[in-house]
Amino acid sequence: MKRLARPSAVQRLVEKHRAAGRRVGLVPTMGALHEGHASLVRRARRECDVVVVSIFVNPTQFGPREDFSRYPRTLGNDLKLLRREGCDLVFAPSVRDMYPEGFGTMVVPGPLASELEGAHRPGHFAGVATVCVKLFTICKPHRAYFGAKDYQQALVVEQVAHHLNLDLRVVMCPTRRDLDGLALSSRNRFLSAAEREVALALPRAIREAARVLRSGRATPRAAQRRGRAALSRVKGLVPDYFEVRQADTLLPCSPKDRRVVILAAARVGKTRLIDNLRVFLN
Ligand code: PAJ
Repeated sequence: MKRLARPSAVQRLVEKHRAAGRRVGLVPTMGALHEGHASLVRRARRECDVVVVSIFVNPTQFGPREDFSRYPRTLGNDLKLLRREGCDLVFAPSVRDMYPEGFGTMVVPGPLASELEGAHRPGHFAGVATVCVKLFTICKPHRAYFGAKDYQQALVVEQVAHHLNLDLRVVMCPTRRDLDGLALSSRNRFLSAAEREVALALPRAIREAARVLRSGRATPRAAQRRGRAALSRVKGLVPDYFEVRQADTLLPCSPKDRRVVILAAARVGKTRLIDNLRVFLN
């Protein structure tokens, strides 16, 4: 497994692979890798000849009051996991490698990015879109792998790639969860045992909303109300949103919509958690 930090060195290497007809897969990450990330790497390994994983805690996607400096950095463990999963190339640049002195060009995604996460984290998706476009032009993947865990992010990146005519496919992979139902996240390590119990209310409320939707006993709006009410009753959890939206556009849904997604975000102590579940109704 090779490890590079300079964008130009990565560009030269992947260009060679592409010229030799090899299919390149990219898994963008911020490190602190867990089984959720590993599942993306495995999917890329199955579908591509060359698997590139980027590790970069991207400052432009963190708000001024967010956890950029506190974000977990576990490079040694990350490299071990990636070697085990058969990654070929790790791209681990420094902030200066990605954002040299005087950097000032941003990719600003459309209205899809100002809802939900975008409304609670102004500028977040411009940071994500900017770093992803940079990672795509540096690593030149045929396919880029994203987790459904960050559902809106995957849709935003897909839309940006489409709008900017980037020649790659964005592949969305299923959310991996712990046995108790909590979606795996690099931030879960900040939860105390008691906070983790509280955090479980998030997937529970989402599953319950999915159940009443599937049973046909509730409209999306009613399921949304129930979810919000359930979360508001949980002590120690501060909900940011609980929404039932159209799965493909994230627009508000009508009772006729069959492909919906339940998305929720909440804070537990200092840790902010997001989760979602797609529901296909008959
Ligand atoms: P990060 O949070 O490290 O996540 C990297 C990728 O792993 C994302 O596509 C995310 O959706 C996926 N992922 C995280 N937890 C997962 C889980 N439990 N199951 C399946 N996939 C999971 O998301 C980012 O980094 C950044 O915003 C990035 C795209 C790298 C841009 O900086």
